Amino acid sequence: VTKIGVLTSGGDSPGMNAAVRAVVRTGIYHGIDVYGINRGYSGMVENDIVKMESRSVANIIQRGGTILKTSRSKEFMTPEGRQKAYNNLKALGIDGLVVIGGDGSFNGAQVFSNEFDIPCIGIPGTIDKDIAGTDFTIGFDTAVNTAVEAIDKIRDTMDAHDRLFVVEVMGRDAGYIALHSGIATGAENIIVPEAKTDIEEIIKSLTEKEKRKKLVNLIVVAEGGEFGGADEVGKLIKSRIPTADVRVCILGHIQRGGSPTCFDRLIASRMGFHAVECLMLGKNNVMVGVVNNRMHYTPLNAAVKAKEKFNKDWLKIVKILAS
Ligand code: F6P
Repeated sequence: VTKIGVLTSGGDSPGMNAAVRAVVRTGIYHGIDVYGINRGYSGMVENDIVKMESRSVANIIQRGGTILKTSRSKEFMTPEGRQKAYNNLKALGIDGLVVIGGDGSFNGAQVFSNEFDIPCIGIPGTIDKDIAGTDFTIGFDTAVNTAVEAIDKIRDTMDAHDRLFVVEVMGRDAGYIALHSGIATGAENIIVPEAKTDIEEIIKSLTEKEKRKKLVNLIVVAEGGEFGGADEVGKLIKSRIPTADVRVCILGHIQRGGSPTCFDRLIASRMGFHAVECLMLGKNNVMVGVVNNRMHYTPLNAAVKAKEKFNKDWLKIVKILAS
């Protein structure tokens, strides 16, 4: 490869900038020209592509969001859109692509590199951690730490009032953020899409607490949980225990922003570095992940939504530690 493009796509995640920086600087180190493609695949279709220099990525390792901006492009899903994107890359002589994003973004990369002669390497960037072939995704650690900080604050007021709090965290249809942040904040209950929840058992224990006027209880709910989000769970509890003092808090997009943790900066830097090496070695259609703290390469068609990584045993820990 002599000229490569890098883009961030799908929901942003803290640490994406560190990955972009690593791709740009590793490429330049090896004498490769690196182009930043703005707004994900949209910028590829619309020819919003700029040559990056080492200084273009100065002072960004600590910044959340993505300097390249991101989007979910509809046009790239059409053959015409992809043809336009290819023509734009070809005109610049770009012969390799690094895509930082989630499984939707990898799908796009795969289709594109199967249609055209441009090898694509994926880097998992999503706060949801729901990608197969990697133990961690860029942004997850920052997101859970943000959630933990927020929930700790909620616990202070919850405890002062002996209240029941239902806190909703992100994750789309995955419960990793809920599981990790819930355990780390000592949640009494965690509701996730990956496991059945015995709601009757929860209601029973809450009813007992309410009788004793000690309803201090934290329930962390994944947004894609079995009963819906925190609003639904709050309403459900209120309908069964009308005297309960219930409050709902949806953490929302604060989980997506902020300065990345050391861990996220580190995996992003390693993944970015190795993504460029992959292109130099002639690899195509693989995702660079981290498994057991070593770099791990997974074909993009296997880097899909991962459910099997979810360790249900951890839910037992929640139960025992909260009892
Ligand atoms: O995939 C990251 C994520 O933050 C999910 O956790 C959440 O469901 C979704 O994106 C929210 O998307 P949007 O920013 O488009 O509202």
